[in-house]
Amino acid sequence: MARVEAEVGKRPEGVLGGLVKWIDDRFPMTETLKYHVTEYYASKNFNWWFVFGVLAFVVLAMQLVTGIFLTMNYKPMAAEAFASVEYIMRDVEWGWLIRYLHSTGASFFFIVVYLHMFRAMLYGSYKKPRELIWLIGMMIFFVLMAEGFAGYLLPWGQMSYWGAQVIISLFGAIPVIGDTLVEYIRGDYSISDITLNRFFALHVIVLPLALIGLVFVHIVALHEVGSSNPDGIEIKNNKDANGKPIDGIAFHPYHTSKDLVAIIVFLMIFFAVVFFAPDMGGMFLEHANFEPANMTATPEHIAPIWYYTPYYAILRAVPDKLWGFILFGLSVLLPVFLPWLDRCRVRSIRYRGWMYKTALTVFVITFVTLGWLGLQPATGTYVLLARIFSVLYFAFFLLMPYYTSKDKTKPVPERVVYHG
Ligand code: HEM
Repeated sequence: MARVEAEVGKRPEGVLGGLVKWIDDRFPMTETLKYHVTEYYASKNFNWWFVFGVLAFVVLAMQLVTGIFLTMNYKPMAAEAFASVEYIMRDVEWGWLIRYLHSTGASFFFIVVYLHMFRAMLYGSYKKPRELIWLIGMMIFFVLMAEGFAGYLLPWGQMSYWGAQVIISLFGAIPVIGDTLVEYIRGDYSISDITLNRFFALHVIVLPLALIGLVFVHIVALHEVGSSNPDGIEIKNNKDANGKPIDGIAFHPYHTSKDLVAIIVFLMIFFAVVFFAPDMGGMFLEHANFEPANMTATPEHIAPIWYYTPYYAILRAVPDKLWGFILFGLSVLLPVFLPWLDRCRVRSIRYRGWMYKTALTVFVITFVTLGWLGLQPATGTYVLLARIFSVLYFAFFLLMPYYTSKDKTKPVPERVVYHG
């Protein structure tokens, strides 16, 4: 194993070696690659939950590339936006593929990021000393939500228009400044060409730049403290004579080769959806969005795209507009505080007691159910269920300091558990 690492870390010979040396004398290239790639040691017992960070990376790259190509033919004007998307779908060479890659990519981005966040909840990845990685991750999540929202307006379909109408007008519930704020976001008295134009600017420039910057610092922060693992043990506490963690293996080639398998499996699933069910029965591309925006005809049933629906269900569960908005905001914000709400001494679910295990299971059921409820009309039983599950959602976070400190934990082993 050490020989493979030595091979990977070796400077190439000949012309290439000369070029590398020339660069190294002027820029810390080899040093950076060693620090972040060939000599970055991560635990040997990573399981499949640990591939979603890399997958998020892959989806981000895919969204950036397909987005650039879409921008080449898309027209950010109310009079032309819908037709330009149809033009991309019908007339531009491979346009349909680029568009479906991008629209499916948006949903897969959220699937991957939700699973990535859930991994952190399983293994306590957000706990000391990784709080900042989590906080930066939450910032990524907020930017991603804004990115998805801005992007959904661009095709200028019925759901683009009315979805934006509903969500932007929520800010009107804020006392005193609400109405002014709504006008400020829209840039007009109603959603219009001006709104579309500024959302385009946000979607293609501001938010992607913010995402790239945040992902960069996310990784820098991760590499400063080192990755956690399914046992939640600090591998840095057990080093060999050379100062390398005994339970760590180099990111490249060991983790990269395993990640490659995950990427291939992921792309197989992803392309199956792109080719056979790009609208996912109205989940990834809502049916009403195949009709051009019409400000005089409200769709019968307005629902945001699936990745926002858990929070939307909480919003609608509250009869008062302002309180609905506050609880909606809180539901999105509360995960930020997880590193401090969780008082358990151990990180990994493997060594936690029944209380956290039960709470996390109920939370998953709650989150999925709220997501489903957000897609249903806000009537009768649906509202009642949304209220019950909203209470469970908040209980998970607000009662966490209590049940995580009372929970009986199991002893954590000295070294990571690995079955080779
Ligand atoms: C564009 C989105 C994102 C990308 C590209 C990304 C990338 C990564 C990568 C490559 C890793 C290391 C591999 C792994 O542990 O899976 C990682 C770790 C981590 N990420 Fe993210 N991430 C993203 C979003 C998020 C979000 C939204 C959160 C949470 C709010 C988050 C929280 C974490 C945490 C806590 C770790 C440390 C895991 C550990 O060491 O146990 N990330 N991320």
